[in-house]
Amino acid sequence: MIVEALTRRMNAHPTDSHTMERYLETGGYEAARGAITKTRDELVETVKESGVIGRGGAGFPAGLKWSFLAPARPAYLVVNGDESEPGTFKDRQLLERDPHAMVEGIIIAAVANEVHHAFVYIRGEYPKPARRVQQAVADAYAKGFLGKGIFGGDYDLDVTVHLGAGAYICGEETALLNSLEGRRGEPRLKPPYFPAAKGLYMAPTIVNNVETISNLPYIFGEGVDWYKGLGHEVDTGTFLMSISGHVNKPGNYEVVHGITWRELIYGVAGGIRDGKELKAWVPGGASAPWFVPEEHLDLPITKDETGKQGSMLGSGAVIVMDEDTDMVAAAERLVRFFAEESCGQCTPCREGTTWLDLILQRVLHGGGREQDIDLLMDVSDNISVGLGWPPKQTTICPLGPSAVSATLSLVKHFRHEVEEHIGRGTPVTISGVSS
Ligand SMILES: Cc1cc2nc3c(=O)[nH]c(=O)nc-3n(C[C@H](O)[C@H](O)[C@H](O)COP(=O)(O)O)c2cc1C
Ligand code: SF4
Repeated sequence: MIVEALTRRMNAHPTDSHTMERYLETGGYEAARGAITKTRDELVETVKESGVIGRGGAGFPAGLKWSFLAPARPAYLVVNGDESEPGTFKDRQLLERDPHAMVEGIIIAAVANEVHHAFVYIRGEYPKPARRVQQAVADAYAKGFLGKGIFGGDYDLDVTVHLGAGAYICGEETALLNSLEGRRGEPRLKPPYFPAAKGLYMAPTIVNNVETISNLPYIFGEGVDWYKGLGHEVDTGTFLMSISGHVNKPGNYEVVHGITWRELIYGVAGGIRDGKELKAWVPGGASAPWFVPEEHLDLPITKDETGKQGSMLGSGAVIVMDEDTDMVAAAERLVRFFAEESCGQCTPCREGTTWLDLILQRVLHGGGREQDIDLLMDVSDNISVGLGWPPKQTTICPLGPSAVSATLSLVKHFRHEVEEHIGRGTPVTISGVSS
């Protein structure tokens, strides 16, 4: 169930997997050395064939994204290491423990997309991973793997490492590009600002997640057949899943899709702590609608099946909640996160996420009113019209609808808990909202 591809070096060499010496000793940079002799078409085709999908949340096929890159040059590559979604901590491990895999992946992706300047955008609260990446980049320059005429050839490639300032919204690719340009980290409208057409400095830009890029040395080094052979027939390769919450063994696990949620939670993560019952879990990062054992425990973990069930695998973050969890409190905490992180450009998100949070706080703290469930639904419908999945947006980016996911999940699966809170309430005033 647990497999080792991306994590092989880290597991075998726990103290120095991040060093150039260890990376070279374990076959490092050979895939990039081979890739620079190939054409853009050959490289893009290989990535398409591998079936690797983006690991940043949307699950978009990487090869297809690369093939959309507009022909104008210069073009840029930006690696997204912002990783601020609650429950997600897989990129941290890759940046800290295996930074050379990402640097080698950058070389491959840069050559494939005719890019001569790549950027790595790292979450500001990740100082150690950032230091390791900076060291890896410096070591790669020293070896001639980056800079002028990489690997002794005629291809030039520079890499800039940039630290964010701790805003979740800067993980959204267009907000990230604004932030890199020195502007406020606010998402851009798509269209017209699809990064592949109008990205960094309005030039064609590929934005890929750290894990997506870190897969490339394996795809090119070991071959497409090996890579596909590792995984599920549709969701190829392996996935790093961050499991947190009330399990016995929280952590990052490299798994292949196709196993069931039961196998993941009870097998890989060691089951629910203190022998408690499982109550619900968030299957793919804080923005994903929740799953419950009665309906979802024996379903296979695949992108398609999770989508059919009205949720998503997103960034691979699984947050497990046991029978003692107060689901109103859980929803309120998630919604508060999104309300606090809203960039404020769109009224339905800026106002709506705050209203959702204030209503949930009121319910949680005993001031709930009977009509609050309808009010929650009404506000949610104004952020995400029709309340369907995938969400229809009235907003520039999906952050607003992310707050709706937790709210709808609460009302859909745990309405009785909201009603219980309201039933036993005594009126209070929370942050200016009187009951
Ligand atoms: C609010 C928000 C936050 C996001 N945060 C991240 C993040 O921290 N890291 C990431 O890789 N993608 C994040 N994404 C997704 C990116 O916009 C983008 O789809 C991704 O970086 C593309 O890489 P991939 O195709 O390799 O997945 C976020 C999206 C949204 C809407
Ligand atoms: S949805 Fe929210 S975070 Fe996204 S652009 Fe609009 S206000 Fe900003």
